[in-house]
Amino acid sequence: MARKMWMRGTVAAVSAVAMLTLAACSSEQAPSGSGEETAAGGDEMSEGDDLITIGFSQVGAESGWRAANTQSIQDTLTEENGFSLSFSDAQQKQENQIQAIRSYISQGVDVIAFSPVVETGWDPVLQEAQSAGIPVILTDRAVDSEDDSLYESFIGSDFVLEGEMAGEWAVEQYDGEGYTMVELQGTTGSAPAIDRKEGFAAAIEGSDIEVVDSQTGNFTRTEGKQVMEGFLQKYDDIDLVFAHNDDMGLGAIEAIEAAGMVPGEDIKIITIDAVKDGMQALADGKINYIVECNPLLGPDLAEIAQKVIAGEPVEKRIVVEDLAFDQEAAIEALPDRQY
Ligand code: AHR
Repeated sequence: MARKMWMRGTVAAVSAVAMLTLAACSSEQAPSGSGEETAAGGDEMSEGDDLITIGFSQVGAESGWRAANTQSIQDTLTEENGFSLSFSDAQQKQENQIQAIRSYISQGVDVIAFSPVVETGWDPVLQEAQSAGIPVILTDRAVDSEDDSLYESFIGSDFVLEGEMAGEWAVEQYDGEGYTMVELQGTTGSAPAIDRKEGFAAAIEGSDIEVVDSQTGNFTRTEGKQVMEGFLQKYDDIDLVFAHNDDMGLGAIEAIEAAGMVPGEDIKIITIDAVKDGMQALADGKINYIVECNPLLGPDLAEIAQKVIAGEPVEKRIVVEDLAFDQEAAIEALPDRQY
């Protein structure tokens, strides 16, 4: 509840791209999928007194969105831009993130940043960081905590709004058709899964779109495909899929095609993210609508971290703005799409 309250509080709408005051430059570091910690921008975190040492715990490598988000962070938090980055991949496990944060606390980094895999259960480790005097910045996903003094700022999209945008488009297009819908949810307990479901449900309330099933596909293509296969075996009249991200939607496309149907025609598909693969499927007519979730959070994170270290005030909530695409808009946007 507390989280919802401060989401409605002071909000600064900031473009992730426009806030970049740092020169974007390439990192030599590739996105980690091993679960092991990697350091960039210095041999040891104690080196380079002028650099801001920052420990970043990433959710994992579950989707195209996550790969783009990791790239943005690693490309921005470079030595050239004044940072020494330690990056770890939690492989979608909260215990790995807690372990990584504890390790950053014991290393005495200047700033800890992380994208929480789930919303709850963070207070103890955030209190440990606070006791050690290390500021924490949340990126992408929120925590559900009564105490918002445990972090400096939360940078990310408004997931409820994303769900609403998707649902509003569904009602505009499909209300009155008596559509039967299934939902592919993101990771259980994660902010985007909870909020997108809530936003979509609110938007379709009162329409004749009927949600007959809703299960998690954990934000991955493989699980999205598996869950969709199950839906297709269980229901013979599915008209619409709402997938909480592109990857699960792409998995659903594979399942629909394997069942001898035409995605985008026999079964309509709405997704969230707007990564290149999703946008290509939209341009090809296999997905019908995509609401964007901008993953390029590195520049905002860099700016907020610098301000926190300089003792300057920062906004508690920085909302990244998202667009939405139909087929025509996807065809137009694809040539310049960064991710
Ligand atoms: O938290 C953002 C979500 O996480 C993206 O929509 C999804 O693709 C990712 O895994």
